[in-house]
Amino acid sequence: MELENKSIIITGASSGIGKAAALLFAAEGADVVLGARRSSELETLAATINQGIGRAVYLAGDVRDESYASALVDLATTSFGGLDGAFNNAGIVGEMGPVADMGLDNWNAVISVNLTAAFLAAKAQIPAMRARGGGSIVFTSSFVGFSNGGLPGMGAYAASKAGQIGLAQSLASDHAAEGIRVNALLPGGTVTPAGGEGNPGVMEYVAKLHPMKRLAGAKEIAQAALFLLSDRSSFMTGSPMIADGGMSVRLS
Ligand SMILES: NC(=O)c1ccc[n+]([C@@H]2O[C@H](COP(=O)([O-])OP(=O)(O)OC[C@H]3O[C@@H](n4cnc5c(N)ncnc54)[C@H](OP(=O)(O)O)[C@@H]3O)[C@@H](O)[C@H]2O)c1
Repeated sequence: MELENKSIIITGASSGIGKAAALLFAAEGADVVLGARRSSELETLAATINQGIGRAVYLAGDVRDESYASALVDLATTSFGGLDGAFNNAGIVGEMGPVADMGLDNWNAVISVNLTAAFLAAKAQIPAMRARGGGSIVFTSSFVGFSNGGLPGMGAYAASKAGQIGLAQSLASDHAAEGIRVNALLPGGTVTPAGGEGNPGVMEYVAKLHPMKRLAGAKEIAQAALFLLSDRSSFMTGSPMIADGGMSVRLS
């Protein structure tokens, strides 16, 4: 049990990597607080976890709302006595296309869900972790925020994901002495709705960019997040941890 008795928030839990993480973390002993906008998906997942895997509560909302970030922390505290970890994973790709043709609406939408929400989440979570004597925060960044892989039309997404790495590193240096670790996880292409699931042409194109010539399963990325949230990574903070099937070495 890697996360026994740890209370952990997971956003983006209604789908893909976040859903896989919720099931894995609960199986590893965590008490999980599930967040995303789609309430029915969260309700079903919480019920599955509570029927024999572990303990889960959920609250539907939008990660762009500061009050939602605080409400998830409050739910962790009232339900499970505090907060030990957060997998701030919700994200969107947005519209892909050249920056010269990109509308400000798309830029703002991507930056607000992926980067501003990461800031709001950490701002709400750090005081609760401080009260607990430490904790672990993980942002789901992307290989696109580091190496891009030659994917066209990713300006807003890449900027938001690179921004998460900078935010994680700044938070890491600010809070290391308090026992609060902050890392960014950089997945490669992963089989989820955002990763092109259901669109074989897209999945095949992205898979071929990876030296492993395949996409990750959502559980493989959840396992990397599990490591960062567990005490196994106790000397890691401020790390952009790459789990990308070799995408970055292909380019180096
Ligand atoms: N799949 C890939 O190839 C890949 C690669 C690298 C990084 N990532 C990153 O991995 C993370 C998870 O993505 P995924 O691949 O698992 O995609 P996904 O299956 O589409 O999941 C995205 C999750 O984010 C939630 N979400 C989106 N906007 C939200 C908002 N405004 N407020 C609250 N929740 C919101 C969605 O829930 P609701 O719709 O219910 O709100 C959903 O649970 C993202 O940050 C993504 O950028 C993905």
